[in-house]
Amino acid sequence: MNMVNLTIDGVQVSVPATYTVLDAARRAGIKIPTLCFLKGINEAGACRVCLVEIEKARALAAACVTPVGEGMIIHTNSEKVRATRKSTLEMILSDHNRDCLACIRNRNCELQTLADEYAIRNITYEGEKSISKFDDKSFSIVRDGSKCIKCGRCVSACNKQEIGVLSFLNRGFSTSVGPAYDVSMADAPCIYCGQCIIACPVGALHEKEETEKVWEAINDPSKHVVMQVAPAVRAAIGEEFGYPIGTRSTGKMFAAMRRLGADKIYDTNFGADLTIIEEGTELLGRIKNGGVLPMITSCSPGWIRFCEFYYPDFIPNLSTCKSPHQMEGALIKTYYAQKKGIDPSSIFTVSVMPCTSKKTEASREQLRDSDGMRDVDVVITTRELARMIREAGIQFSALPDEGPDMDLFGEYTGASVIFGATGGVMEAALRTVADILEDKDLPKFEYKIVRGVAADVKEAEITLGGMPVKVAIAHSTAGARKLLDAIRAGTAPSYTFIEIMGCSGGCVCGGGQPQQPAQVLMDIDIRAERAKALYEEDVIMPERKSHKNSEVMSLYKDFLGEPNGHMAHELLHTHYCKKEIYPDSLVDQQ
Ligand code: SF4
Ligand code: SF4
Ligand code: SF4
Ligand code: FES
Repeated sequence: MNMVNLTIDGVQVSVPATYTVLDAARRAGIKIPTLCFLKGINEAGACRVCLVEIEKARALAAACVTPVGEGMIIHTNSEKVRATRKSTLEMILSDHNRDCLACIRNRNCELQTLADEYAIRNITYEGEKSISKFDDKSFSIVRDGSKCIKCGRCVSACNKQEIGVLSFLNRGFSTSVGPAYDVSMADAPCIYCGQCIIACPVGALHEKEETEKVWEAINDPSKHVVMQVAPAVRAAIGEEFGYPIGTRSTGKMFAAMRRLGADKIYDTNFGADLTIIEEGTELLGRIKNGGVLPMITSCSPGWIRFCEFYYPDFIPNLSTCKSPHQMEGALIKTYYAQKKGIDPSSIFTVSVMPCTSKKTEASREQLRDSDGMRDVDVVITTRELARMIREAGIQFSALPDEGPDMDLFGEYTGASVIFGATGGVMEAALRTVADILEDKDLPKFEYKIVRGVAADVKEAEITLGGMPVKVAIAHSTAGARKLLDAIRAGTAPSYTFIEIMGCSGGCVCGGGQPQQPAQVLMDIDIRAERAKALYEEDVIMPERKSHKNSEVMSLYKDFLGEPNGHMAHELLHTHYCKKEIYPDSLVDQQ
């Protein structure tokens, strides 16, 4: 490897020639502040917060985009550097709605942290404020232009997804960031993956908060509140309470949810096991009866919207299975209501999800019963759950380990836990389908070949029932695009089954998960760390195949009948519709 030698703040370092000054400083243990930089996503050199002084250079240089050079002598902390950074921050803050106390990012805001670190006590550049837009029309995402610092991280995150909904609009002082034609996020071809929220360093983008609705239901004696929580939440919620990335907090998570006051706490993993039975049966049916193949998973609502907007020709390939929490929601309002003798209209179902797209998913017409009753009344994100826990004064770290309520929907297997990571749904399905085809309890059921985040498209050939079967996994919509384009072009192998998740790494890095500052993300692959937490839980589960979930099997016997049967279709399956991108009617209004 070609190396260069340089001196940073008197420390001599030797680094690969491909490094930037920012990388080299980190190697030397020197922190350079950043704001617009987000490793692997936004490397635009726009904010100038990372300026450093390079001897013999004519101007200060942005460390995040300046390549290292042999013999460079760099000062990251000179008086000139500090003064310039401070005045840059003051300028950014001069056109910023600084209501930190009421801001969703209070105490977790990269701009606020920098203002504190640089001891900004007064803003010397007060002047005209730019006109900003507040958009809370969508079910998933709120955009508050008064907090936007025009760093472009969201634009790059959306481009990295190869969706490109967000861009810079107008020029100069009138510049803003938003969808084309400055339409609401509700009217843009946005999939609500929330990757822009995860990228945003400040409070300009956030989920549509629905915690008040949950508190209201909990405090309403006429409501019976049933909460469920997705597998990926346990792999990240600890981060909200100071635990290291990758800490699995299953026990404390359930204990905290119980103390919020819901009547019943369940794990969406039950719904995930059920999904595998339904989806596996659907797949085997399609193989046997010449149905549309490859069949593609349908758990990720971001992916489903992406398909409906951008690849509607693949709608017949989608599994008709509802996502696990929607299945569980439908069963809570029917089977559970019957068993417990509760009027379904007084049941309030809350799903705690790592995902912002699930908020919009839960509002879909197709996910209501014939009277318009929703399967899931409210979806809150992992971040919202953490806020509720804080608001209730619960000391997360002091909680004992507890589990979900163990009646009706309490049991779950290791297969359902791994749903939260890319490759997890595929592996869970393979564990069950292989047993069914071989008609035995196969002792080898880990499919490590489908795991991991190194590539956004993975493929494998698996032997199922003596037959070689080709499968593929894509995570991120950029990966999905690559895979589907190859299928459209006829250059892909003939796959039987495909798993697609809308977010890179899968649900563990969904748009509703805790936000980590860019400085932390420079050194860690958060996708792999969080996934590890789920695989850890898988191996300690007494049963690791979905069809071994005895409560799921009793549910079929007592209530649903056959997998993919009439009742199962009524409650657990759905359909999809092509969506139009910026219809003329909308553009004409602008
Ligand atoms: S975005 Fe950050 S700096 Fe701005 S108001 Fe919110 S917390 Fe404060
Ligand atoms: S939610 Fe996803 S698709 Fe929508 S703007 Fe953000 S990154 Fe783009
Ligand atoms: S919305 Fe957030 S990420 Fe996007 S440009 Fe504004 S501050 Fe940056
Ligand atoms: S210019 Fe380097 S972090 Fe913004």
